[in-house]
Order: sequence, then structure tokens, then C-alpha cells
Amino acid sequence: MDTLDIKTIREDFPILKREVNGKPLVYLDNGATTQKPKAVIDAIINYYTDMNSNVHRGVHYLSQISTDAFEITRRKVQEFINAKHDYEIIITKGTTDSINLVASCYGQEFISNGDEIIISAMEHHSNIVPWQMICEAKGAILKVIPMTEHGELDMETYKSFLNPKTKIVAVNYVSNALGTINPVKEIIDLAHAQNIPVLIDAAQAVQHIKIDVQALDVDFLVFSGHKMYGPTGVGVLYGKEYWLNKMPPYQGGGDMIKDVTFEKTTYNELPFKFEAGTPNIEAGIALNAAIDYINRLGLDNIKKYEDDLLQYATEKLQEIKGLRIIGTAKEKSSVISFVVEGTHPYDIGVLLDKMGIAVRTGHHCAQPVMEQFHIPGTVRASLAVYNTKEEIDALVAGVNRAVAMLV
Ligand code: ALA
Repeated sequence: MDTLDIKTIREDFPILKREVNGKPLVYLDNGATTQKPKAVIDAIINYYTDMNSNVHRGVHYLSQISTDAFEITRRKVQEFINAKHDYEIIITKGTTDSINLVASCYGQEFISNGDEIIISAMEHHSNIVPWQMICEAKGAILKVIPMTEHGELDMETYKSFLNPKTKIVAVNYVSNALGTINPVKEIIDLAHAQNIPVLIDAAQAVQHIKIDVQALDVDFLVFSGHKMYGPTGVGVLYGKEYWLNKMPPYQGGGDMIKDVTFEKTTYNELPFKFEAGTPNIEAGIALNAAIDYINRLGLDNIKKYEDDLLQYATEKLQEIKGLRIIGTAKEKSSVISFVVEGTHPYDIGVLLDKMGIAVRTGHHCAQPVMEQFHIPGTVRASLAVYNTKEEIDALVAGVNRAVAMLV
């Protein structure tokens, strides 16, 4: 597919036909979660209708076909991000689960008193708190790369932070609150020059930007199914074999063991060592359909379309008197956060909802970002491939109406 037919794409998403508060739904909260195409919904229905059974456990037919379907997803993810091995793909509950896994297991093995962990000023709470927890447990120090007033990382300070005490760098690819695309390749290369591994939180990137983990040479990369047109409750941890083999297991339970006696347990090989318990099978299987959907449209096409839409939305929103965009980095993806003078983001969000327009308001689980800009929160419109210029026009008209009511 060379160019996207958005009208046809919209037909693939049943929910986009519904009304909210008597108005056609304008869904601009894709950073929180995307809507699901029929292919993903059908995959879930099909799993329960035709193959429901536990995975990796049974010799019976249904268990075998559900295991095969689950493992197809692992290989699909491997191809999607160009991992070297399928066993470097750990299926988790989502981005938060993946980061907690790395913070806990890598931290347990490699982080000691006085060591340093680098994150950035624009992280989601899920890429702050797990590192704070391991710092607290181990007596390590959290260093935070500052950002400019445009919402770009201060790379000079980052360079100055890297030293033999630095044990890991964990930053996002795209900021959920600001939309900034961070220079992740440069961040990784600088860390690797000092043999420091890097975790990239790609939750807001993987659905917009083609990612090749081998080209990036990233050590850990994490993302969620539900922000990429897939189901909730499933996500991915990519980890280099080298690190995954050196890390202890995360949770104990079924599937992650080789042998258990009361005296001693030996652990399963990768990836199962990190997949204790029955996974979210239907979500794992349906994630395959979500990746197929993205592949069919083509990430390059998606990016081009969404970049145009972002530019259009930025220009139109800026025309609103008193509106200030928070996050004006040169490189941005699919997120526009803004505040309007004399109004509270929450009030604008409530009034937009009455018009059928769904946006997120508040701190977006990134309170330190709001603190830096001295604001309580923002209104955030976040885009997906099914959004249109007409919907942006509806947003702009809606904000104008809301402001007229509030100011
Ligand atoms: N992390 C999600 C967001 O940015 C929930 O809205």
C-alpha cells in the first residue's frame, strides 16, 4: 500500500461509528489507548470460540493450536522489531510490567550501593518509579537528564552524567506528555561507548515509527499491545540474549521452571524463564492481528500521514487566542499537549466530551513534566492513523466553544 485510504481504514474500526453524547465520536486519546480494528476483535472472539485452552502445557489438540497461535505472535514481534532471536521476546502484561521486570531483575544482579541510574525529565511514571524503587532497595542514585523549555533533552548534561558508576540508562523514545521524539540512537551510542546498557520505552513510538532493535543496538525495548491497535493486558520486553541470560527470573511459578523439588528449583530457558503463570492468551494471540494490521498499512505510510496531521493540528490549534502548546521540540510524533490561558485543562476536557470529543486531561502520568512547565496539567490530543483533518477541525471548534464558555 503506497497511500492510505483513511475512509476505508475507519471502516475497520467498529467503534468509530458510534456517537457520544449525541455527537459523532471524535477519538483523540490514542496515547492512552488506541481503538481496535475488527481483525483484532475477531481474533479474540475466534480464540474463545474455537481454541480456548492453556498454552505450553497440554498434549491435547486445543492446547497445541493455542500454543502455536501464541508463539506465532512471538515470532511476529521478533520480525516487527527485527530482533535476532524469538527467545529475546518476552511477552508481558504491558510496558509497565516490562520496565518493572528489568528494573527488578537487572537491578538485583547489577546494581549496588552508590551506583547510578540515568532517566530523563520527560519520563512517564512507569519509567521513574520502578527505578526509584531499585535505588531505594540498593542505595543507588537516580540521575535525571534535564530538558529545555521546548521539551528536548539536554544532551550535554546527559554526556556529563555517564561515568563508570552508571549501570543503566532508561529513557522514552517518544514522550507521552509532550510528543518529543528523543535521539535514542545517539543516547544508546554514547552509553555503549562506556559499556552501559540502555532501556528504551517505546510505548508511544512503536505504533508510529519503524523500530529495528539490531540497528539501534538497544539492550532492552518495551511497549504495550493496546497502544498499537491490539488488546490490553499484553506487552513486550525485548532484551538482548546476553542480558536476559544474566538476569535472575522475575516471578516464580508455572512455565518458568525446568525442575522443582523442595530443595532446589532450576529455571526454564528463555523466554519462558520470564513468563511465570498463565499469560493473557487471547491478548497475546490477538496482538498478532494488530501487528498484521500495522504491517498491511505500512509504518512509513502511517508516519507520513500522522506527521501531516500533527502539523495541521499544530497550525490550527495555534490560531486559538491564549492557547499555548506544551512541547515544541523539532522532532515530534502524534501528540499535542496544550493549555489555554484562564482555563483549567479538566474543564476543557469535560466540555469537549459533551461535544463527543475524547481527549486526555491532567498530568498524563508525567507529573515532573508538569512541574517543570509550572502547570497543573494539559489537554492532550493524541493521534492515530484513523484520525482526520475534519476531526482536528472539530477539536479546534470545540476548544473555541469551550474557551468562550469558560473565559
Ligand atoms: N500512558 C498512557 C497515556 O499517556 C496511559 O495516556
